[in-house]
Amino acid sequence: MLKIEMETELNDQLNAELYSSYLYLSMSAYFEEKGLSGFAHWMRIQSQEELHHGMKIYDYIVERGGKVTMKPIEGPQVEWDTPVAVFENVYLHEQKVTGLINNLVDVAFELRDHATSNFLQWFVTEQVEEEASASEVLAKSKMLGGEGNALFLLDKELGARLPVFSFPVKN
Ligand code: FEO
Repeated sequence: MLKIEMETELNDQLNAELYSSYLYLSMSAYFEEKGLSGFAHWMRIQSQEELHHGMKIYDYIVERGGKVTMKPIEGPQVEWDTPVAVFENVYLHEQKVTGLINNLVDVAFELRDHATSNFLQWFVTEQVEEEASASEVLAKSKMLGGEGNALFLLDKELGARLPVFSFPVKN
């Protein structure tokens, strides 16, 4: 059984993951409007990954006999100045999420909730990958200067991203 403090923290993280999904979908819509369908595709997959992260937490709370509480999701930003500004936002956001996960791990340790500590290790590893991929795309988009053929080529590259996860369904 989950302790109430842990349940509250996990529900907050569920909300943060759903907000991330919403934010990246908003970025996807921004790119659609700009005619950058490859960038839009990359962001849509990113949004699906965040939904998957949220559902992992949802399922874990249920599995531990806790109560999932859906909270309001904050409205995300809807406009950016340039594609580079979008990826700067992604990179900063992922660093913030890493901080949230680290805090969650600290709470699990303090509560001596070893099962949750173990569960959260997947997220610790995932955040390393999330920050690395955001940093890589940010660096590439900065090199382009946002113009011409290079932008077209990066759009094509990002458009080839494959989904890592299938849609989360409970087994
Ligand atoms: Fe769920 Fe991008 O962290």
